[in-house]
Amino acid sequence: MKKIGLITSGGDAPGMNACIRAVVRTASFHDIEVTGFYRGYEGLLENDSISLTRYDVRNIIHRGGTFLKTARSSEFRTEEGRSKASSIIKSHGIQGLIVIGGDGSLMGANLISMEHEIPVIGCPGTIDNDLFGTDYTIGYQTAVDTAIDAVDNIRDTAASHNRLFFVEVMGRDAGLIALRTGIAAGAEGVLIPETPTDLNRLVNYLKTDFKKKRRSGIIIVAEGDSEGGAYEVAKIVQNEFPNWETKVTVLGHIQRGGKPNGFDRILASRIGHGALLAIKEGRNREMIGISGGELVHVPLDNAIKHNAIISPYLLELLQALS
Ligand code: F6P
Repeated sequence: MKKIGLITSGGDAPGMNACIRAVVRTASFHDIEVTGFYRGYEGLLENDSISLTRYDVRNIIHRGGTFLKTARSSEFRTEEGRSKASSIIKSHGIQGLIVIGGDGSLMGANLISMEHEIPVIGCPGTIDNDLFGTDYTIGYQTAVDTAIDAVDNIRDTAASHNRLFFVEVMGRDAGLIALRTGIAAGAEGVLIPETPTDLNRLVNYLKTDFKKKRRSGIIIVAEGDSEGGAYEVAKIVQNEFPNWETKVTVLGHIQRGGKPNGFDRILASRIGHGALLAIKEGRNREMIGISGGELVHVPLDNAIKHNAIISPYLLELLQALS
C-alpha cells in the first residue's frame, strides 16, 4: 500500500477533522501517501483533490466541521457514478479508500468496493450514533453535549414562565441524541422513532402530574418521531390544553457544529489510526468501531444493514427518572 484516498461524506460531525488528522499522520508514519478529495463523493466525481502531508493537518484537531468539506451525492448513488469515481481513483494510483461518514456514505463505500475491487475502510462519522457495531460514532457525544447545554438554557425560561417546551433534536431515523439529552437534561418526556409514540399517554401524564402542580416542563422530540416533529406534537398537546402556554424550539444544525469535545477527539484519533492500519494490512469492507472501549472491525455489511440498538436499560432509566 503506497497511496490511499480519503473523503468525509454525508452530514459533517464534530471530530471529523481529528479523524482526518489521525489518518494522514499515521499514513505519513508508515510512508503512505494520502490524496484527499473535497466534498465527499461529489468532489471525488469532479476529481477535486489535494495531496495531504502531515503538515497539512496541523491545527485542525479542535475544529468542528470538516476541512475536506462534505456533501451528499446523488450521482454516486448510481452505478455510472461509482464507475466514474472508480476510474478517477485508479487514475491517481490510489490503492485503497478511507471514508469518514454515516450509513449512506458507508453504503456507497461498500458498493464501490464490491463493484470495482477497491479496498475500502469506513470510519463512523455522524452525530446520529446509528451505525450498528460501534458503541459510539464520531461527533455523537459532542452533539449530545451541545443539545444538553441548549436544553439547560431553555429550562431556565420554561421554569420562570411555567411553560411547557417541546425541543426538537436531530435524528431523522434515530432517537439516540434525544434519549441521552433527555436523561442528562432531566426532561419530562422523550419521543423517539425507535419506540411507538403514544400521545394519549403523554396527554394523560400532563393532565395528572403536570397540571396538578402547574409547573414547567421539557419534552424532547427526535426529528424523526412517528408523530412528526416538535411543532406537530406541540399542536396536538396545545389543542388538549388551550389555556397552557406551549413553546417549540428546534435545535437544528446548532447540534452539528462546534468544536469536538475531548471524547470525540480521542475517539476520532483512535478510529482514524485504526482505519489506516486496517487498510495497510489489506483489510477490506470494514468499519472501524469501538465496543467496550476496544477498537473493533465491523463488516460494512453489518454496520449499514442493521439498526443501532436502543438500550432497553436507558429507556427504563428515562422512564424512572422523568
Ligand atoms: O445524519 C446526520 C443528520 O444531522 C441527521 O440527524 C439529520 O436528520 C440530517 O443529518 C440533516 O441533514 P442535512 O444537514 O443535509 O439537512
